Amino acid sequence: MLSSLTDPAGRRISYLRVSVTDRCDMRCTYCMAERMTFLPRSDVLDYDELLRLCRVFVQHGVRRLRITGGEPLVRRDIGPFFQELGSWLKHSDNRGQLEELTLTTNGSHLAQYAQTLFDAGVRRVNVSLDTLDEARFTKITRRGKLAATLEGIRAARDVGLALRINTVAMAGVNDDEFDTLLAWCGEIGADLCLIETMPMGDTGEDRTSRYLPLLDVKADLSKRWTLTPIPDATGGPARYLRVGETGRRLGLITPMSHNFCATCNRVRLSCTGRLYTCLGQEDGADLRSLIRAGVDDAVLERAIQDAIARKPKGHDFLLGASEADVSGPQRHMSVTGG
Ligand code: GTP
Ligand code: 5AD
Ligand code: SF4
Repeated sequence: MLSSLTDPAGRRISYLRVSVTDRCDMRCTYCMAERMTFLPRSDVLDYDELLRLCRVFVQHGVRRLRITGGEPLVRRDIGPFFQELGSWLKHSDNRGQLEELTLTTNGSHLAQYAQTLFDAGVRRVNVSLDTLDEARFTKITRRGKLAATLEGIRAARDVGLALRINTVAMAGVNDDEFDTLLAWCGEIGADLCLIETMPMGDTGEDRTSRYLPLLDVKADLSKRWTLTPIPDATGGPARYLRVGETGRRLGLITPMSHNFCATCNRVRLSCTGRLYTCLGQEDGADLRSLIRAGVDDAVLERAIQDAIARKPKGHDFLLGASEADVSGPQRHMSVTGG
């Protein structure tokens, strides 16, 4: 194998998040503005370009790939892309190097794709769902259909995909629903992961007043549920607790109140081929220009290594006393899918 990717702080990069599109069929209030201008298609990497970059990362020690968007399942012909990546998995080919292929989705097209994903080698999916109430769902996603997401979740479960439900925790929006979601996840056999809202891009929302520190939420849930800390198996940002009453896991992602940058194992590739070495910073490298200039892999490898050598220590998301004091990157979350 070629040399692996390690930054000067000793953090080994073994995980790549790949955004395959900036488009989405929803407009979640914490992620996008109501009116979004999406990129012209020519700016977006084609599948061959995406696969070439993914291959370089895998050759350099990336062992987990998470496909994101926007909404990855709205990109045309996404099935063969998953099939190709799935053929790099260890179990499907003795020479395979990839340990995990997965995706984060809003679930709207999951019913249609669940079997294809499973057949490609995907074994777990994260589905974003902030509420089980239809009116709220419409308010939060602005144009999503709760029934479609629920159908997607059921289909994923029925084909055998392990599920984690991602819920962005928002004061005054869904903070009265965490018990219901925890119980519902127990019934359908899913883990639940609560996420603190990160200030990314201008979404037209007041994020300061919506902010909910998850340690407070955990303390409250502990009054009614038996929560026992367990080690994380994925090396990701979530800290997990076992929920005694359901046997499932509760994850907490706390970038604002307790960040996990010191153990970060990941970088992200946007659909335009920009490498972002931190979710909360603009640092990175323009790999699309290199690819489209016809460079060979050695040049791409060097550009990736140089960018990782500059990986920031951490994000500096800030929520002040009001929306005017909020700081974070200008780009929307949908550019890199988290
Ligand atoms: P694993 O593959 O299990 O580690 O999943 P994940 O939690 O990384 O994936 P998911 O796509 O479900 O993301 C859940 C939340 O974690 C989203 O809000 C992401 O924005 C956030 N997240 C993922 N990686 C990072 C990171 O490196 N830094 C920060 N601050 N947030 C992240
Ligand atoms: N802060 C925290 N999480 C977010 N997500 C989208 N935008 C934000 C934000 N501003 C979540 C989605 C999805 C995951 C990829 O990121 O709900 O589950
Ligand atoms: Fe789409 Fe996910 Fe962003 Fe919602 S959070 S608008 S579903 S990309």
